[in-house]
Amino acid sequence: MGIILILIFFSLMSSISPSCKYLRFLSLSYSVCLFFSSINLVENTDGFDSLDPNGNITITWDFLSNNEDTYDVQVSIHNFQLIRNLDRPGWRLGWAWKSDEAIWKMWGAEALQQGNCSRFKGNNQPHCCEKKPVIIDLMPGAPYDLQATNCCKGGVLTSLTQGPTKSVAAFRMNFNKASDNNSENNMPESFTLGVPGYTCGKPIQVPPSRSTKNGRRWEQSLETWNVPCVYSQFRASPSPKCCVSLSAFYSSTIIPCPDCSCSCQSQPGAKCVKPGEKPTLLQLPIDTIEEPPKLVQCSAHMCPVRVHWHIKQSYKDYWRTKITITNLNFVKNYSQWNLVVEHPNLQNVTQIFSFNYKALKYKSVNDTGLFWGIQNYNDILLSNVHTEMLLHKDKGIFNFKEGWAFPRKIYFNGDECVMPPPNVYPRLPNSGHIVTAESSIVAIFLLSLLTMFF
Ligand SMILES: *[C@@H]1O[C@H](CO)[C@@H](O)[C@H](O)[C@H]1NC(C)=O
Ligand SMILES: *[C@@H]1O[C@H](CO)[C@@H](O)[C@H](O)[C@H]1NC(C)=O
Ligand SMILES: *[C@@H]1O[C@H](CO)[C@@H](O)[C@H](O)[C@H]1NC(C)=O
Ligand SMILES: *[C@@H]1O[C@H](CO)[C@@H](O)[C@H](O)[C@H]1NC(C)=O
Ligand SMILES: *[C@@H]1O[C@H](CO)[C@@H](O)[C@H](O)[C@H]1NC(C)=O
Ligand SMILES: *[C@@H]1O[C@H](CO)[C@@H](O)[C@H](O)[C@H]1NC(C)=O
Repeated sequence: MGIILILIFFSLMSSISPSCKYLRFLSLSYSVCLFFSSINLVENTDGFDSLDPNGNITITWDFLSNNEDTYDVQVSIHNFQLIRNLDRPGWRLGWAWKSDEAIWKMWGAEALQQGNCSRFKGNNQPHCCEKKPVIIDLMPGAPYDLQATNCCKGGVLTSLTQGPTKSVAAFRMNFNKASDNNSENNMPESFTLGVPGYTCGKPIQVPPSRSTKNGRRWEQSLETWNVPCVYSQFRASPSPKCCVSLSAFYSSTIIPCPDCSCSCQSQPGAKCVKPGEKPTLLQLPIDTIEEPPKLVQCSAHMCPVRVHWHIKQSYKDYWRTKITITNLNFVKNYSQWNLVVEHPNLQNVTQIFSFNYKALKYKSVNDTGLFWGIQNYNDILLSNVHTEMLLHKDKGIFNFKEGWAFPRKIYFNGDECVMPPPNVYPRLPNSGHIVTAESSIVAIFLLSLLTMFF
């Protein structure tokens, strides 16, 4: 009997994997789920991001001038990803010098530690003597004489879609040459971005960058090196960070986020803040340089972010839906947030209210779009933000039946959100009984039994 049960679990997982996260409340199936999803993710370990297969973050290192004992360089970080952004505390660039280099001065960023500079005599001490320096961004509004072009964004970089100027960071520095005198030896190695999920490759020399200050004269770097960095969900953290709930004007049923979408309240050591209460000062993080661990409002799903999809109205030729994103994390404001939605009707979006929108055309089907906040209005997710959109009822594909009008997939900041099971949604009034989460699980059980034996 036990063996059969385990087999059922296995076939259950293989029939609905990989998005089986809503089974977390059944602890056995949850561990089986993790097992299967780890198999599923093996192919992704090489930094492949299915949402944006060609995306990368490129660190560009420009040697600007070769002085007697020092070099002047400009380091820029370009976010060439369509969707993923770097939120606070943002990037913390690291590398390893090959020899005994030391940073004398820096503009637009600063080294986290000065390190041991005792080998330099006199009052004029270098900015950083670490063998493996870690560089952090300055905050907006840094003193003018410490700034550099494109600097001072508090480590935040938006995706390419959300604004080309906000997707690049840069700083300049002057560093002491290594004892051995050629630039290849002065090009450091082992770069890290300091953001979970990213790994950087080896520096590659590319044709020198050219830039213009006044629009006429072009200045060329002495040498330019690129370091590509790629993201992998597997390396970041396999645990979900958001979930989706559903409702519709034609039904009084609200389908909540699946229980234990992100973790379980009953899990040992689970910390959360009861609704209506505020976290105590002791629970709030002090250090803003480190990413604080999440502290969420207590709920059955325990996710830091919830996305609610409400079908609001039906007109003759159009229908209207409302998307609400709620921040349930007390330690994060999600600046420059974004939302990816997959829905077949997105090809016929007529109007979007209070969010920016761009169709993502990188896939073979264009049913995917990116939503993000309007600058200085709702681009920071403090408590909640919402949009309404008007979609054209395209003859042939549109209908309210079988949950068609609900989203297929939703990603918040590039992380896939846990959806209710595919056959759980608010039913049309005349379509019989309302399927609950429990009965749908039973249905999936029976289904997997069938697939097993036939
Ligand atoms: C990174 O992305 C940019 C822009 O899409 C592209 O030009 C470049 O070749 C990519 N780099 C790598 C190493 O994939
Ligand atoms: C600093 O470096 C010097 C050698 O350059 C070494 O003698 C000294 O012990 C180091 N100090 C510390 C605190 O590591
Ligand atoms: C180092 O390089 C500079 C510039 O190329 C050159 O003028 C200088 O003589 C070199 N020093 C040594 C010790 O090779
Ligand atoms: C979020 O923003 C609000 C308002 O700007 C601020 O009071 C709060 O401290 C911020 N919280 C975090 C965790 O950054
Ligand atoms: C809806 O989208 C389809 C496919 O892209 C297109 O053929 C059709 O003309 C669109 N209808 C409207 C009203 O935009
Ligand atoms: C993508 O959209 C365009 C127009 O918006 C439409 O003509 C085309 O058929 C769509 N492609 C697919 C694969 O649906």
